[in-house]
Amino acid sequence: MLVIVKEDYDAMSKEAAKIVADRIRRKPNLVLGLATGSTPLGLYKELIRMHREEGLDFSKVVTFNLDEYVGLPPEHDQSYHYFMWENFFKHININPANVHIPQGMFGDLKISPYETDPKVEAYCQWYEEQIKKFGGIDLQILGIGANGHIAFNEPGSSLGSRTRIKTLTEKTRQDNSRFFKSIDEVPKYAITMGIGTIMEAKEVILLANGENKADAVKAAVEGPITAMCPASMLQMHRKAIIILDKKAASKLSAEFIYYG
Ligand code: GLP
Repeated sequence: MLVIVKEDYDAMSKEAAKIVADRIRRKPNLVLGLATGSTPLGLYKELIRMHREEGLDFSKVVTFNLDEYVGLPPEHDQSYHYFMWENFFKHININPANVHIPQGMFGDLKISPYETDPKVEAYCQWYEEQIKKFGGIDLQILGIGANGHIAFNEPGSSLGSRTRIKTLTEKTRQDNSRFFKSIDEVPKYAITMGIGTIMEAKEVILLANGENKADAVKAAVEGPITAMCPASMLQMHRKAIIILDKKAASKLSAEFIYYG
């Protein structure tokens, strides 16, 4: 793991954008894994600036998003479809045919702890096959939940998991309720790439900022590898870059940190 600590959110976002832009310039048809949430917004803003001012070309880039809420239509302002188009895709020259975001609408679902609805299962398998069809993800962007989740792989998720439906924890629903009118409106389920799916990306960048991420970052970087902190699995990744602001890094004790 390479841990880079930057002064603040802005510097963290720009550092990540520099790496993403470099990878796109080296491989114009880069397969880019994307995340939602507040954390990558600065990265997207900087990539949009690079597109406008420096001609960064997304025309051949292929994207795969990590996750989507179940039950929110794409036009819902809290769906991850809406988020991605509003905050990133509509501002760059991406080919809409190259954009992949998990589907969240399946109609009525039979959800039991023992079996997955066949519609969902077939869809999740299809999503995994699409990733393979494009040769796998070259670079995956990740945020981290305050509980250590990556995408919607909540604590306890199998470290080998693939794309599937996950029940969201109360903690995650509470954290994300700030974007909804009330917690009752926060979906209970999500479709998410699995930890196994994420681990197959050739390179991973995890971003975290702010004090409320400091414990999760410490557990991910310095703690034992455990399903109770899904991000800790990145310790097993061959090419994981963790970019933090000073607040998110404030609980790290390791001496292998690069301050830039
Ligand atoms: C969300 C997303 C994750 C994201 C995390 C942190 O629920 N599913 O992909 O990394 O929680 O979100 P934020 O960046 O808003 O803190």
